[in-house]
Amino acid sequence: MVLLIVSALIIPACSNTADNTSNGRKVKLIKNEDQVYVGFLIDTLKDARWYRDKKLFEKQVKDLGGEVKTLAANGLDDVQIDQAKLLIEEGVDILVVVPHNAEIAAKIVTMAHKSGVKVISYDRLIANANVDYYISFDNEKVGELQAKEILKHQPEGNFAYVGGAESDHNAILFRQGAMNVLKPLIDKGKVKLVYDQYTNEWDPETAKKNMQALLKKRGNKIDAVIAANDGTAGGVIEALDTAGLARKVPVSGQDAELPAIHRILKGTQTMTVYKPISKIATEAAKLAVHVAEGKKVTTDTTINNGKINVPTILLEPIAVTKRNIKDTVIQDKFYTKQEVYQ
Ligand code: GAL
Repeated sequence: MVLLIVSALIIPACSNTADNTSNGRKVKLIKNEDQVYVGFLIDTLKDARWYRDKKLFEKQVKDLGGEVKTLAANGLDDVQIDQAKLLIEEGVDILVVVPHNAEIAAKIVTMAHKSGVKVISYDRLIANANVDYYISFDNEKVGELQAKEILKHQPEGNFAYVGGAESDHNAILFRQGAMNVLKPLIDKGKVKLVYDQYTNEWDPETAKKNMQALLKKRGNKIDAVIAANDGTAGGVIEALDTAGLARKVPVSGQDAELPAIHRILKGTQTMTVYKPISKIATEAAKLAVHVAEGKKVTTDTTINNGKINVPTILLEPIAVTKRNIKDTVIQDKFYTKQEVYQ
C-alpha cells in the first residue's frame, strides 16, 4: 500500500517531469544543465551525406559548448514525431529538423512551441508551420546547375526528369530550378520532356525500375536525363548500362557522393552538385546555439512555406564535372586524392 501511494505520488511528480519542468524550472536530461541542449532530428541515414551532416553538426555544437542528441527516423513520419516528443521531454532548448515529410513535420513545430522550444528547418523546409529559421543550400539553383550542364552535352532532344521524393520540399525546388532552364527550350520544341516524375523516398532501385520501363516504352529513345541526386542517378545509369546507353546519354546528379565522382571520371555520369556539408553544419550549429541562448538572429532572406516568411540562410551549391573535381571536393578535403582516383 505504502509503495502504491508513494508511486502514486511520484507519477504526478513525474507527470510534471513529462513536461520537463520541476518546481517550474526546466529540467534537461544532460549532465551539465547550464549547457545549451540541441536536438537534431534527421529523416534517414540512407543517403551518405546525412552521416556527414550528423558528424559535423554534432562536433560544431560541442565546440560551441553545447550538448546535442541526434535521432534518425528511417523515413517514418510517426517515428520522427515521437522522437521530437522525446527530445522535448528531455528538455532540449532547440530542435533542428530535417523533415521526412514537409507537411507532416508541421506537427513538430506546434508541439515544440507549446514547450517554448524553437525549431530550425535544416536543409529541407517544413511547410505550413511557424518555423523559426530555415537553413539550406539554394535548392532552385541546384536544379538550374543540373539542367545547364546537361544542355552543354545535349542541347536538344528527348529529356527525362527523374525527381526526388515529393514529400521533400527540396525535390520541388530542384525540379523548379531545372524547369526554369528547360522551359524556354521546351516552348521552342527543341526539348521534349518525355518523362517527368518524382521518385518515392529518393529510392535508387525505384529510379532504376522507372528508367527501365521508360526505355522499354520508348525503344531506348532517350537523349538526356536530369536526375535529382546521385542516388537516383546511380539507378538510372544502371538501367542505361543494361540498354547499352551508358556514356551515350548525359545524366546529372547531386551530393557529390563518392560513387558518383567515380562515375563522372568513368564518363557514365556527367555532373553532380557539391554542397559543402561543413558549411551548412557549421552555420546551423551557430544558429542553433545563438537562438537557444535567446539571441535574435537576422537573416538576409526569407522563404514562404505556405504559412509565413521564414527567416532563411541560403548557401551556394557548386556544379562538379570531370574538369573541376580537384578544385572542389579534393581542395575542400571532402575526399582525398586516393579516394577519388582509387
Ligand atoms: C534532399 C537533399 C539532398 C539529397 C536528398 C536525399 O533533401 O537536399 O542532398 O540527399 O535529400 O536524401
